[in-house]
Order: sequence, then structure tokens, then C-alpha cells
Amino acid sequence: MSALLEVTGLTVRFETKRGGLTAAEDVSFSVPAGGTLGIVGESGSGKSVSVLSLLGLLPGAKVTGTASLEGKKLIGASEAELTKLRGDRVAMIFQDPMTSLDPSWRVGDQVAEPLRLHRGLDAAAARAKATALLESVGLPSPAELARAYPHHLSGGQRQRVMIAAALACEPALLIADEPTTALDVTVQAQVMELLARLQRERKMGLVLISHDLGLVSEVCEELLVMYAGQVVERGPTKRLLSAPRHPYVAGLLASTPTLEGTGRLKEIPGTVPDLRLPLPGCRFAERCPQARPECTKSPVSLLDEVRCLFPLSPSRLSHV
Ligand SMILES: Nc1ncnc2c1ncn2[C@@H]1O[C@H](COP(=O)(O)OP(=O)(O)O)[C@@H](O)[C@H]1O
Ligand SMILES: [Mg+2]
Repeated sequence: MSALLEVTGLTVRFETKRGGLTAAEDVSFSVPAGGTLGIVGESGSGKSVSVLSLLGLLPGAKVTGTASLEGKKLIGASEAELTKLRGDRVAMIFQDPMTSLDPSWRVGDQVAEPLRLHRGLDAAAARAKATALLESVGLPSPAELARAYPHHLSGGQRQRVMIAAALACEPALLIADEPTTALDVTVQAQVMELLARLQRERKMGLVLISHDLGLVSEVCEELLVMYAGQVVERGPTKRLLSAPRHPYVAGLLASTPTLEGTGRLKEIPGTVPDLRLPLPGCRFAERCPQARPECTKSPVSLLDEVRCLFPLSPSRLSHV
């Protein structure tokens, strides 16, 4: 049986006035039906481009590699084929609901839109289903709320509306790109709880993107950690948390506050390299406490789920 989402060797390049840059390089991952994958990394590590490129949402990018959703080719598919998939078999939600909600449109109509577009429901049927969806994402007085405009709602409510619209056609896969980053902490937890519940109830595949390792590891079974456009480590969440093998992942873990808030906060010193400059060896080398001279000589490939010449062994990590 083929995976729900299968991505192999995805590379995304941009030509800019200041030169070309490879925003994602040789990224591979797969999500089984009903599975959950978290993509983690600092800002600018290539998380968003790695999913936007799959759905044809990066005009101007040169995208290579192969990707399929339920066996249907994504990279190289026509705009018409992708339009048919988006909002139907695969839906996406973003950090800022205002980028996907139209300010001049009642929210109920926006939730109903994919049902009219992909399911051919008439106005009344779509409206009734939209109201039920608004209720299912925990919004109060859904029938009334359906008549409101986005600016009448709080940030958390708008995010719930976006989730309702995304789920309207019961997608097999939901891609959530920093869905709670713009919300305050309490609302963030509520929206994450909602997403996790909907994923379980609907047995829907989920790709959850965040810079916050703690947040994704609570929801996702598998993790993909990116650094400067490359996957540096991937594997089951449990294993990554208990025995990270890449020093960057170990550093991320050390800078993730514990649930009890007892804090082990140690930011990784330094910054992500400029992707326009030539990067001969390991891209993390200049920030890596374990780096050796060999690390900067030639590109390091992803071997056995980790891109490191000198991966940490579980015993060396017993103190983390
Ligand atoms: N349209 C674009 N044109 C040029 N560079 C881009 C474009 N979109 C993203 N990038 C660059 O690609 C890199 C990865 O971006 P992104 O995937 O958005 O990072 P993340 O989501 O991990 O924060 C960044 O260096 C960013 O500046
Ligand atoms: Mg992003």
C-alpha cells in the first residue's frame, strides 16, 4: 500500500536579485494514512517551502523531486489538478487566518465555499453543513457566528473558522503551518488540543509545522528536524526526544522548556547560515559544540536518519 503522502528528494530553489538560494534540499519524508508528522526547525530552515511547494503554492520557485498524495503525482501536476486536490483531499491552515480568510465575506460562506466548489452542494445545504462544522470546532452560537465577518472574531475564533473550512471536505491530509504561533499561550493550547482531537477522530493524516519542538512532539508520532534547508534528523518522536543523535536536535531539546516549566533553557548560540553563501560541509558546524575539522570539508549526507559525521550515541546523552 502506498503512503498517504510520499516525498522524495524535494529541492526548492529561488532565483533572487541577490543570487540563487536553495531553500530546501533533498528533503524526503512520508506520512501514512492517519499518521502524524511534525516538521521542526528554526525560522528560515525551509519548513514552509517544503510543503507549499508540494501544493503548487510557491510561484517563482524551481521545484524538483517527486511527491505524491494517495498515489497522485503532486510535483509536475497541472494547476487544474492541484486546484482539484486543495481544499478537498488535502487542506492547509496557516499562522495568520487573515491570509486565508477574506475580510469582506461572512465566515459561514467561507466555510461553505469548499463544499460548493468540490461537493457541488447548493447554498442551503452548504450553509447547514458550514454551521455544523463551526459547531464541531467549538465555536459558540454557530448559526449566528456564521453571519459574522472575520474582523468581528478573536484570533482564536478565526483560527477555528479556518480549521472548519479546511475540514469541510474531510481531507485525507491536513497540513498545519505554525497554526498557533500568532495566538496567546492559553488559546494556543486550546487550538492545539482541538487539532489533535480532530486528527484522531477523523483518522486524518497531519503534517504539523512549528519552530516549537515541545508543541509538535506532543501531537506527532514522527518528527523531521530541519536546519538551513536540510533534514538533519528524522525518526519516531519518542526516540528523538530520548536519544537525539544530531547535536542540533540535542541543542533544540536542551532549549525546550519542560512541561513543568522548570526550564533547562540554553539557547543554541549563533545563527542559521545565509543560504546564498557557499556552504561546503555540515551547515550546523559553526554552531556545533562537537564539530571537528572534517565537518566543514565536504557535504554530509543523511545516513541512517541523521545528517552528521559524528552522531551522538545514546550513552553520551544520558545527562540531557
Ligand atoms: N518566495 C521566496 N523567494 C526567495 N526566498 C524565499 C522565498 N520564500 C522563502 N524563501 C527563503 O527560503 C528559506 C526558507 O524559508 P521558509 O520555508 O519560509 O522557512 P521556515 O518556514 O522554516 O521559517 C528562507 O531563507 C527564506 O528567506
Ligand atoms: Mg514557515
